[in-house]
Amino acid sequence: MFIFKSPDLLHARISNRKKEGQTIGFVPTMGALHQGHLSLIERAKAENDTVVCSIFVNPKQFDDKLDLVNYPNPIQKDIAMLQSLGVDIMFNPEADQMYGEDYDNTDLDLQGLDLIHEGKQRPGHFQGVAKVVRRFFEIVEPNKAYFGQKDFQQSVVVGHLIKLFDMQTELVVCSIVREPHGLAMSSRNERLSDVKRLKAAFIYKSLLKFKERCFFKPLPEAIETTLKYLHSIDDATVEYFVCVDGETMQQVNDLSESKYVAVVTVVRYDNVRLLDNMVLKDER
Ligand code: PAJ
Repeated sequence: MFIFKSPDLLHARISNRKKEGQTIGFVPTMGALHQGHLSLIERAKAENDTVVCSIFVNPKQFDDKLDLVNYPNPIQKDIAMLQSLGVDIMFNPEADQMYGEDYDNTDLDLQGLDLIHEGKQRPGHFQGVAKVVRRFFEIVEPNKAYFGQKDFQQSVVVGHLIKLFDMQTELVVCSIVREPHGLAMSSRNERLSDVKRLKAAFIYKSLLKFKERCFFKPLPEAIETTLKYLHSIDDATVEYFVCVDGETMQQVNDLSESKYVAVVTVVRYDNVRLLDNMVLKDER
C-alpha cells in the first residue's frame, strides 16, 4: 500500500492510473476504522481497479472543538487494517495541505440541507463535510465514491454536491453495519461502557418497531408512541426523530407524500450522540 500525504503527488499518481484505463474507487474516512468502514472498502475493492482510502480528521466539520481534540486516532492500527484489506493507496494529509493559504473557504450552496435536522444540531458541520469532500474529489477524481447510509443526511449532502459541481463521480451509499445487538457501528460507541453499549440496541429496536407501526397508524401517532418509549429509557434524550423525504431531507407527515421516506434520529445516551436511521419505503 502506498501512503500519500501530498495532494499534488497523489493527484499525479492517480492521473497516471486513470490514463492506463484504471477505475478509481474512493472511501473517505476519519480513521478509527471499524467494520462499518471496512464494508465500504470491501465494496470499493470489488468494483474498482484501484482503491484509495483517506484518513483525515477534518477540522472544518467539528462544531464542537472538544470532540475534535478527543477524536480517536489509532493510525498504526488503521494502516494495518487498510493493508490487510488490500487498499492500494492511503491518503493521510495534514490540515494545511488540504486547506492551504489559497484555499477559498466560501460556504457552498447546499440549498438549506446543512441547516435542518443534523445540520441544525451541528451548525457548520455539513459545510465542513461538503468542503472536504469537494477537495477530496478534486484531488482523487474518483469514478465511484463510497459513503455509509449510517450518516444518511451526509450522503444526501454529497449527492447534492456532485450535482452542484457537475462532478463525474458516482455516489455509492452502503448499508448500515451494526453490532450484534443492533447498535449502528460508530467510532463514538467506544465512549459507552460495555453495559451501555449492549443496552443502546434500544435505538435500533425502536426503529424496527416504528417501521412496523407507521404502516398502520398515522405518522404523528406512530412517532409519539416511539418517543414515549425512548423517553422512558434511563440516561437517554432524543435530539430529533423525524421522517424525511430521502432525497430532499424535507420532513414528511404522511408516508404518501414521497416515494422514498426514511426516519432519521439522534439519541443522546449516557452523553454520547448516537445517530441512526431506517428507510421506511423506497418506491423509486
Ligand atoms: P467517518 O465517520 O470516519 O465515516 C466514514 C464513512 O464510513 C462514512 O461514509 C460513514 O457513513 C461510513 N460509516 C460509518 N459507520 C458506518 C456503519 N456503521 N455502517 C456503514 N457505514 C458506516 O463520515 C465521515 O467520516 C466524514 O464526515 C467524511 C465523509 C470522511 C468527511 O470528513
